[in-house]
Amino acid sequence: MFVLASIIDITERKQAELDAARHRNEMAHLSRVSTLGELSGSIAHELNLPLSSILSNAQAAQRFLANGHTDLAEVRAILNDIVSEDKRAAEVIHRLRQWLKKDEVHQHPVQMNDVVDDVLKLMRSDLVNQKITVDTELAPHLPTVTGDPVQLQQVLLNLLVNACDAMANCHRSERRLLIRTGFENRNGSSAVIVSVTDRGGSIPEEKMEQIFEPFFTTKEKGMGLGLSICRTIMTAHQGKLWATNNFDCGATFHFSLPIGASDKEVVMTNNGIANASS
Ligand SMILES: Nc1ncnc2c1ncn2[C@@H]1O[C@H](COP(=O)(O)OP(=O)(O)O)[C@@H](O)[C@H]1O
Ligand SMILES: [Mg+2]
Repeated sequence: MFVLASIIDITERKQAELDAARHRNEMAHLSRVSTLGELSGSIAHELNLPLSSILSNAQAAQRFLANGHTDLAEVRAILNDIVSEDKRAAEVIHRLRQWLKKDEVHQHPVQMNDVVDDVLKLMRSDLVNQKITVDTELAPHLPTVTGDPVQLQQVLLNLLVNACDAMANCHRSERRLLIRTGFENRNGSSAVIVSVTDRGGSIPEEKMEQIFEPFFTTKEKGMGLGLSICRTIMTAHQGKLWATNNFDCGATFHFSLPIGASDKEVVMTNNGIANASS
């Protein structure tokens, strides 16, 4: 009887965990959809560039043929340009589909330096429009972590969007962002750390934790959900997310991901019942 009760208890707990994970993934997906609205100018621009290049190349080829030129080498070069610009547009669409897909969360080996590159590609035109310079200090030979690459991109992207917001009123020369990746080994456990440093305003010390609560915002059109979703994603990855103020100006947001965390995620007890360990 006791055994049965504890199995039911464990089954219920497992079900509650699954429900919570589904809920968390839906929130994360919704927030990606809403971020897309903010990035839409950027995406349109990224697609317009290859499309207008394809158009002008095709028109050049038409003019060529209309004028009776038969320089095949030139036509071949034009066609090569068209093919590579088309591939570039397809890559933008591929990135978008990855961003919007609503799959189960996939645990993959993730190289955080690649996550940084992918997010910078997604945001490139926005950063140019806002005249923000991004410096990167990416550690070479960074170990991989285990996680969902799209959700990890989402965390970084939210931090970057916030950092850009924080610098909206800064002078152009001050609009600089620094993204760092590194590796830490403390008390026998190792982690990859990513940080985003801006030169905007600082965060009042008493608000350092409050900013991670849902619906906390100081922006007129803010939703106040970005950081709380980031924190949920980091917790699900057994990682951490926190903020500090810089000595001179602005704030730095840091997140850390344990190395080798996937081994601990689910263990089988010797009576065969799956159990989550932390
Ligand atoms: N880089 C930053 N510098 C200063 N304050 C920040 C920064 N990032 C976030 N904040 C503060 O945290 C609040 C919550 O952020 P977030 O959850 O992303 O929601 P939102 O961006 O919609 O306001 C912001 O409104 C702002 O007050
Ligand atoms: Mg935000």
